[in-house]
Amino acid sequence: MAPAPPADGTAEVWWAHRQDAAERYLALLDETERRRWAAYRRDADRERFLVGCVLAKAALAGYAGLRPADVRFDRTCRQCGEPHGKPAFAGYGLGHSVAHSGDLVAVAVAGDPVGVDVEQVDGRSHPLGGDGDPESLGRLVLSAAEQDALAQVPSSGRARAFLTAWTRKEAVTKATGDGLRAAFSEVVVAVDAGPPRLAAWPYPRDPGEVTLLDLDAAPGYVAALAVLGRCAAVAPRDGSALLAELP
Ligand SMILES: CC(C)(COP(=O)(O)OP(=O)(O)OC[C@H]1O[C@@H](n2cnc3c(N)ncnc32)[C@H](O)[C@@H]1OP(=O)(O)O)[C@@H](O)C(=O)NCCC(=O)NCCS
Repeated sequence: MAPAPPADGTAEVWWAHRQDAAERYLALLDETERRRWAAYRRDADRERFLVGCVLAKAALAGYAGLRPADVRFDRTCRQCGEPHGKPAFAGYGLGHSVAHSGDLVAVAVAGDPVGVDVEQVDGRSHPLGGDGDPESLGRLVLSAAEQDALAQVPSSGRARAFLTAWTRKEAVTKATGDGLRAAFSEVVVAVDAGPPRLAAWPYPRDPGEVTLLDLDAAPGYVAALAVLGRCAAVAPRDGSALLAELP
C-alpha cells in the first residue's frame, strides 16, 4: 500500500545502504542523472548517488501517487545554472533532502523545506578535515561559543562532537538550499544542555521557526534534520525494503 504523505508537522526519514544499489535502478535515472552516475570514478560514490536518487524517487512517488520513474527533479544550481543544485520536486507540497556518508543513505521528506545530513564518525576512509584535528576545523566553521563547547569535550569524543555540530549546521543549510555556500560559523546552534536549537543564522527569518533534531543513525554515524517550520516528530522508515520492492 502506498504510504500517506507525512502528517502535518512531522517528517519521515528513509534509511538505506549504498550496498542496496542494483543495476536495475539505473532505468529510473534521467539523462542528467545517468551522466552524473557515470562520471563518478569510485564504485562507492556511484552506489551512494544511485541509492540516494532512486530512494528519493521511490519515497516521493509513494506520497504523490506517482510511479518512481515519473518523479523528476529540477537540479538547477541557483549559483551557476548547472544541474548540481538542491533537487526540487514541485507540485505536491513536499520538501525532501538526500544525504550519504560511508555506507549510509538518508532521504528526508516533510511538508516544509527540509534538510538532512549524515556523517560517518568511526572507520572513515579519510581523517576528518585532512589532518584529523576537529579543533582546527572548528575554528573555520564554528561560532566562538561552539568552539568553546567543543574544547570542553574530552579529546576522545571531539571528532564525534564536531561532526554532530557539523550535521546540524549542514542540515539547516541544506534545508535553505545554500549548502556549503552558507557561512557555517553564522549558523549557530545553542550550546546549552537542552535539545538542539538554532540560535542565530544569516537570514531575515526568525531562527526560532526552524526545527532542528538529531537523528538516530546507525552505530558509528551521526545525523541531523532541519525543517523550516514546525516539526513535532520524525518517523524512521526502511528505505532498503522500499528499494527491494522496486521492479
Ligand atoms: C549540498 C552539499 C552541502 C552536500 O554536501 P555533501 O556533504 O558533500 O553531501 P551530502 O551527502 O550531505 O548531500 C548530497 C546531496 O545534497 C543534495 N544537494 C545538492 N546541492 C544542494 C543544495 N544546494 N542544498 C541542499 N541539498 C543539496 C543532493 O541531493 C545531493 O545528493 P546527490 O549528489 O546524490 O544528488 C554540498 O555539496 C554543497 O554545498 N554544494 C553546493 C556548493 C556550491 O554551490 N558550489 C558552487 C557550484 S557553482
